[in-house]
Amino acid sequence: MKKTLLLMMSLSLALFVSCRHDSETMADRFVEDLLQKMTLEEKIGQLNQLSGDYRQTGPNRVSADKIAEIEKGALGSVLNVFGAETTRKLQEHALKSRLGIPLVFAQDVIHGFRTTFPIPLAEAASWDLEVIERSARIAGEEAAAAGIHWTFAPMVDVTRDPRWGRVMEGAGEDPYLGSQIARARVRGFQGAGVGAVDAVAACAKHFAAYGAAQAGRDYHTTDMSERTLREIYFPPFQAAVDAGAATFMSAFNELNGVPATGNRFLLRTVLRDEWNYGGVVVSDWGAIRELVPHGYAADDRDAAFKAILAGCDIDMESNCYNRFLAELVRQGEVPEALVDEAVRRVLRLKYDLGLFEDPFRFCDTVREQTVLADASHRLAAREVAERSVVLLDNKSGVLPLDAGARRIALIGPLAKSERDMKGAWSIQWDDRELVSLYEGLTERVPVGTEIRYARGCGIDSSDRSGFAEAVAAARASDVVVMAVGEAFDMSGEARSRTDIGLPGVQEELIKAVWATGKPIVVVLMCGRPMTIEWTAEHVGAILCTWWLGSEAGNAIARVLYGDYNPSGKLPMTFPRSVGQIPLYYSLKNTGRPAPDDHAISYGSAYIDSPNAPRYAFGHGLSYTTFDYSELQLSTDRMSVDGRMVVSCTVTNSGSRDGEEVVQLYVRDLVGSVTRPV
Ligand code: GLC
Repeated sequence: MKKTLLLMMSLSLALFVSCRHDSETMADRFVEDLLQKMTLEEKIGQLNQLSGDYRQTGPNRVSADKIAEIEKGALGSVLNVFGAETTRKLQEHALKSRLGIPLVFAQDVIHGFRTTFPIPLAEAASWDLEVIERSARIAGEEAAAAGIHWTFAPMVDVTRDPRWGRVMEGAGEDPYLGSQIARARVRGFQGAGVGAVDAVAACAKHFAAYGAAQAGRDYHTTDMSERTLREIYFPPFQAAVDAGAATFMSAFNELNGVPATGNRFLLRTVLRDEWNYGGVVVSDWGAIRELVPHGYAADDRDAAFKAILAGCDIDMESNCYNRFLAELVRQGEVPEALVDEAVRRVLRLKYDLGLFEDPFRFCDTVREQTVLADASHRLAAREVAERSVVLLDNKSGVLPLDAGARRIALIGPLAKSERDMKGAWSIQWDDRELVSLYEGLTERVPVGTEIRYARGCGIDSSDRSGFAEAVAAARASDVVVMAVGEAFDMSGEARSRTDIGLPGVQEELIKAVWATGKPIVVVLMCGRPMTIEWTAEHVGAILCTWWLGSEAGNAIARVLYGDYNPSGKLPMTFPRSVGQIPLYYSLKNTGRPAPDDHAISYGSAYIDSPNAPRYAFGHGLSYTTFDYSELQLSTDRMSVDGRMVVSCTVTNSGSRDGEEVVQLYVRDLVGSVTRPV
């Protein structure tokens, strides 16, 4: 019996391997056959990507008759177009081309499509890989139902400078947490695999080190040691490769003197040779043409030359390949084999998506309506949102709100905002579907509770005329909830800030309300760590709620009342001041570590500020308390490739149920190179 079983198992394994091998061979054969039929111009058309009219996500739109280009086979993929019907129509044009190669439709589905989830930095604060994966899964399902094949997500750039507006888009400062989250997001978007009709191809971006822009200024230079590049900025990209990310996007920034989009070290040596990656690399918007202003290419023709040699497969919105690549090949400057290599990857992506079999398989209007109306998606969005909230402080014990507090003042420029709840990089629908804090609180407060609303001031204005009304509302209430922070478009792409404090006169508004002596809860809505020193020193209860998406108001109200006990932990350090930046937890010890209560010393410190951040990476409180005990190591020695199990007992020693993120930090005290603390 046993022998038979063994034989059957080995047969089935062999069968699986051979099936797997056969499907690979079939795919390769299909692609090769098609490639042989293509003219040089048709090949280059597959490497050309232009934006549709839904929105412009970069400067200088290429002007072209897209329908004519599509029917000519001169356009291989389109971004910023979606909808089952709309994509069907464009696909019909593509099938009129000589070889009828279907289009791929791409979109920045960053944190939700029809249902908006918390911004990625907020989700990272949940440290909950299951909810993060579920969020991306639902986003992928909704996007695929709307005719989208490919999302330009996850953004996996490690970010240590909150002046940079795009910190909202990633997973924060830590390579390990960022790698785990990159995996979860790739798995979520791609679901059962590229080609599943409820999944989209993922795109790990922006390769590489875009988050290290000098001075936090978007698109600025990045320059670092190869050690830092490999230890800090590469890991989340490697995690994305491991998770099977179908595509990569090359970054705008130059890295150590060579722009990422023309950088052979990145796109060939590391990505292809070291990591053995076989997926498509698409440039960021216009990034090939931008090799010219970088001073790395003499003109657009030279830019096309350098980008294809470096290994950038698809040209997004610069038309350099379409204009110059054929000539470069015919004049013998670019081997056609390089073009073929890029085209194979693009054709393979389309094959894997099942588009050659059925170009319209993602164009089902009935499925689109059903999936986009799925009410369970909003419940999932609320659950993710609750877990993304970080309780920064509660020394006053005002939280959770006392159900007996019958008079609540809700004050601040973000209290009634719906649009801001979506944050940057959200898809535009009817903002009235978003739940503002005012709506969520109105829904949640115990019967008989009165909410007095006063805007107080604008988000970024100097007008103080609303202060009196706000102070009066506070005086007439038992407790005050203040919704302050950034507008949705103060973070995101091209939204760097030199001052990451509360814009306008919001802090003055907090001071004016604080002077009433009423208990205050500050709800900080933002896309980045902010400097809130006065508020942190004077207000005894602060929640960081980021931008929580469609269910923002409901999630915040539930946390305010303790229906959900906040468990979020910061994925990025909150500095006391911009002057401390870059500031992150895994700093080096230096030769002169300085205690924070330093007098003037010869230690590595400032004379006008402690070194410590306002709130550290990993910080987050709870309405209950957790005690750690019985810390044990499985061994007291471990070889470099060995294994040690660390265990401890975590006890909820408070009066409420709660969730805790147990964090373990290790340090190599002495190394052949210095190691972070
Ligand atoms: C933008 C962004 C990139 C996005 C692309 C397409 O400029 O840098 O993240 O995917 O263009 O919208």
